Amino acid sequence: MYNSNEIIALQKATTKISELNEIEDVNLLREVLRFHEHRYYVLNDPLISDEEYDHIYKKLENFEKTHPESITADSPTQRVGNSLNIEFKTVNHLVPMLSLENSYNPDDLIAWDKRLKGIVDSAVVEYSVEPKFDGASLSLLYENNFLERGVTRGNGFEGDDVTLNIRQVGSIPLSAEFKNYGIEKIEIRGEVMMNKSSFKDFNEALISEGLAPLANPRNAAAGSLRMKDPTAVRKRKLEAIFYHASYIEAGAGDSTNSFIPSTHSGRLQLLNQLGFKTPIKEVKIFSSINEVISYCLEFEVLRDNLPYEIDGMVIKVNKIELQQKAGSTSHHPRWAMAYKFKARQATSKLLTIEYQVGRTGAVTPVAKIEPVRIGGVTVSSVSLFNENIITEKDIRVGDTVIVERAGDVIPYIVKPLTELRTGHETKIIFPAKCPVCHAELVKPEGEAVWRCENIGCEAQVVERIIHFVSKDAMDIRSMGEANVRKFYSEGIISNIPSIYELDFTQLGTLAGFGQKSIDNLKSAIEKSKDQPLHRLIFGLGIRYVGETTAKALAKSIDSIFELGQLTTDQLSTIKDIGAKVSESIFDFFHNEENLETIKKLDTLGLNTIGEKKEDKDGILSGSTFLFTGTLPGLKRAEAEALAEKHGGKILSAVSANLTYLVAGESAGSKLEKAKKIKSIQIINEAEFLNLINS
Ligand code: IVH
Repeated sequence: MYNSNEIIALQKATTKISELNEIEDVNLLREVLRFHEHRYYVLNDPLISDEEYDHIYKKLENFEKTHPESITADSPTQRVGNSLNIEFKTVNHLVPMLSLENSYNPDDLIAWDKRLKGIVDSAVVEYSVEPKFDGASLSLLYENNFLERGVTRGNGFEGDDVTLNIRQVGSIPLSAEFKNYGIEKIEIRGEVMMNKSSFKDFNEALISEGLAPLANPRNAAAGSLRMKDPTAVRKRKLEAIFYHASYIEAGAGDSTNSFIPSTHSGRLQLLNQLGFKTPIKEVKIFSSINEVISYCLEFEVLRDNLPYEIDGMVIKVNKIELQQKAGSTSHHPRWAMAYKFKARQATSKLLTIEYQVGRTGAVTPVAKIEPVRIGGVTVSSVSLFNENIITEKDIRVGDTVIVERAGDVIPYIVKPLTELRTGHETKIIFPAKCPVCHAELVKPEGEAVWRCENIGCEAQVVERIIHFVSKDAMDIRSMGEANVRKFYSEGIISNIPSIYELDFTQLGTLAGFGQKSIDNLKSAIEKSKDQPLHRLIFGLGIRYVGETTAKALAKSIDSIFELGQLTTDQLSTIKDIGAKVSESIFDFFHNEENLETIKKLDTLGLNTIGEKKEDKDGILSGSTFLFTGTLPGLKRAEAEALAEKHGGKILSAVSANLTYLVAGESAGSKLEKAKKIKSIQIINEAEFLNLINS
């Protein structure tokens, strides 16, 4: 798409535009923004930060406000539609969107290869093989280089016009230089997808808001295309990948079509060259069906390691001329075949429902089913998420249900097979009381989740401790879920601070706890005291505060206690923190019990110092530090954070690069080593603090 000279020129232009106040060339500014959109959305390899992009984007926005006559339909600002509650018109596809014929095993493919060769009357056929993307299909129409419309598959003949929504998908070019290839009008097909990690984040956000998560990335992508608010579409990280040109009209007087590649793989290359995301990395050409089969089988193994969902492979005749010769039925092209991967669905019987209480008190119904193997894993427990899902799908105890487990997506019940009902199935009645502490359950308006509001509910306390020690929070490895449950039931721990007051002698009396595991646990707990503050904030389990928010909070404060002094308005000024999150943080830090917990953790020696960005021009800049021994006032992590905050750098070992060794009580080998290097200045805590205060 961009050659190295262009990349260098556009990067230079980026810097210049960023620094200049005046806009000299608005078209160049647009070109620069398009270039960075392509780097970010299509190549997933941005060259500038989001902040830098926003800065330049704002310049264009401001310019266009004062020069509205200059706005073009493909200006990067024109993705953002402003019409709310759009209606989707039904429109005809230029060419019907056919389905694909499915095959499920190598024999099917061998039979197809034979059949096809008979139809096209050729002993050798070149095949192009690529993944079958599991998203929502889409067709785009470009006329005179401009994106005119985007349409969902619908019934194959007509679909919904979702143009305003798909303009929000950053990897879809608003214009592309088709005319350079003699193309006046083109309809291209592809799939809108949400990749697995965006889907996970998306669902976590839904769950934390008390809403029902979506079953799979395909549903998330399809639902996104049909949202009534285009700006909301932008917030869902959608990708679009294109794999077929269904209609091409050459320009008037251009009868040659000479620039248009005559193979499928060549056309994918062309689309890619024009700025579209296409499967060029995955596509492979083979001239024997056995090689095709090997590639399909190879990919099936890789399936779970890919960042996006695929449900098979698509094998296409590579030469367009041969495709035309093979033709289509009313249902599918004869020149293509889908090779479907093994099903990730199975049927099982729903035995009973259990209700689990999470750390925020949310009560989740979990279906216990007869154990069944799906994609190599035995499934016996399936979350039903909330009451609505049970009602909407009319799931009953005793039902035969279809269960799906897609990759790392958690298993879910697709539907009950109502035709198999015997009349002995029983309706599921959601409990009115907490199954653990028996407090009345409540469901706030607008939410889908029932909650136990008793903060002292045992189930919640245990879940909060499990969350606190978990990998992404304080990462106390040897603790783990099973141990937390065991220690709690044995009365060894009772809340989060009690982790740091463990009676290791009592622990020794538990079965399976030898000296080695006790030592490991001791050192893991000790180590966790020095975890950066964002982990502690995340570990506290404040509602709506995920890892990203915890990081943003930690970066904006000097100490955790500051959070208790901020108003909701002040909290809302922190990046990505909205009204609901700031209220939740405010409430948390105005709850006596929570404040007690935090004070206690501080007294027990946990790092509570904020992560405000280091001051590059700080008083300590250019100096390096190493802290050793026990300091009289500061905890190790606090001292390090302080040094960094004032521009100092922390080293992990004594070397000639070290400026200061700050030594406390019982400093050992590091002090001895430092004494031997003349350039190192050995100071104590008070002298270190003086450096900062001077
Ligand atoms: S080619 C005329 N290639 O799967 C044939 N389709 O189950 C055009 N799909 O309707 C389709 N990945 O929505 C093609 N690499 C791929 C695909 C693909 C996913 C979808 C497409 C099609 C459906 C059939």
